[in-house]
Amino acid sequence: MRKLGVGVLGVGEMGKRHAENLRSLVPEARLVAVADASTERARQVAAELEIEHSYSSLDAMLECKDLDAVLIATPDKFHAQAVGIAARAGKDILCEKPLALNLADAHAALRAVSRAGRRLQIGFMRRYDPAYRAAMKRVEAGEIGVPVIFKSVGRDKDAPPLAAYQANVNGMVFYNNTIHDFDLARWLVRDEITEVHAYTTVAIRPEVAQYGDVVASVVNLQYQQGAIGNVESYVQAAYGYDVRTEIVGSKGSILVGSLRQTAATFLTAGGGVQTLADHFLTRFADAYLAEVRDFVQNILNDRPVRVTGEDGLKALGIAVAAENSHVQGKPARVTVGRSSASA
Ligand SMILES: NC(=O)c1ccc[n+]([C@@H]2O[C@H](COP(=O)([O-])OP(=O)(O)OC[C@H]3O[C@@H](n4cnc5c(N)ncnc54)[C@H](O)[C@@H]3O)[C@@H](O)[C@H]2O)c1
Repeated sequence: MRKLGVGVLGVGEMGKRHAENLRSLVPEARLVAVADASTERARQVAAELEIEHSYSSLDAMLECKDLDAVLIATPDKFHAQAVGIAARAGKDILCEKPLALNLADAHAALRAVSRAGRRLQIGFMRRYDPAYRAAMKRVEAGEIGVPVIFKSVGRDKDAPPLAAYQANVNGMVFYNNTIHDFDLARWLVRDEITEVHAYTTVAIRPEVAQYGDVVASVVNLQYQQGAIGNVESYVQAAYGYDVRTEIVGSKGSILVGSLRQTAATFLTAGGGVQTLADHFLTRFADAYLAEVRDFVQNILNDRPVRVTGEDGLKALGIAVAAENSHVQGKPARVTVGRSSASA
């Protein structure tokens, strides 16, 4: 069996999980190398996963023979440039979200991929989660009729350390967290969002404001064909990692996440509902594996990827509009700028 040779760029928390999946759980792939700006980290992960090659940059890893594809899991700021470099080197790419932190960089990355004739998948792994997939099947089968309202909640458990804000390598909450819900909002409702209105707060941690970020946000959504929506993000929920989504239609509703007929549910750090996941690596373990396996199989079989660069661009367009709305304190139109196809 021909195997796809994959190198992982950035082997921190997320990249290491992808590397582990590729190494042991995707029979059609061969993890040929890892690279990380921290040489020590790259060496350590390579040793742990018992692979030969570790590098301290993408350029160095691209010299490695047998490399067909690159999985990019560096901090957000470096995604778009790495996509461009990998594409120009003739590699297919699976890039973690977000595709970029601004639309110009996203277009440049997509142009590079298109000119090189390569494939790019974006890491919106929730589309591979069994519960979200089941929801999508029901939407597609028309079981809830015409979608009217989309609601999604995305809460991380632990507050990021201040050093994470100071490092300035990841996008603010809309680019780093809410972008998953923005992607779900397009995918599950099967329509585009035209306008957003963001409300944000730093009330319990005012010091993050100086880094241009917020602690929690709600973003109201207006769809092209009349549906409306609302997504909430909270980066320090304390009680657990809590992701829930609902699509309400003309004939019914689909919920992903729990709904209990109790008068009140009390959730605290160290108490409450024991079934709640602690972390995204636990809640979405199946999805991360299914995502990378699907990427490998589609590349090997010369099929289109399921979550495209265009999906990355469109979700980014919503995040940019949400930031504009947050800054200006009023609704903002969603745009992705010039078409990457014609650029
Ligand atoms: N899809 C998801 O659910 C999900 C979850 C978590 C993180 N992510 C995304 O994955 C990416 C990585 O997040 P993380 O939590 O693993 O971060 P992390 O800080 O744990 O790891 C990042 C790694 O990249 C390395 N690095 C930094 N700059 C680099 C560069 N220019 N070239 C090569 N390596 C570089 C760092 O040394 C570190 O080892 C982020 O873009 C994040 O948004 C996605």
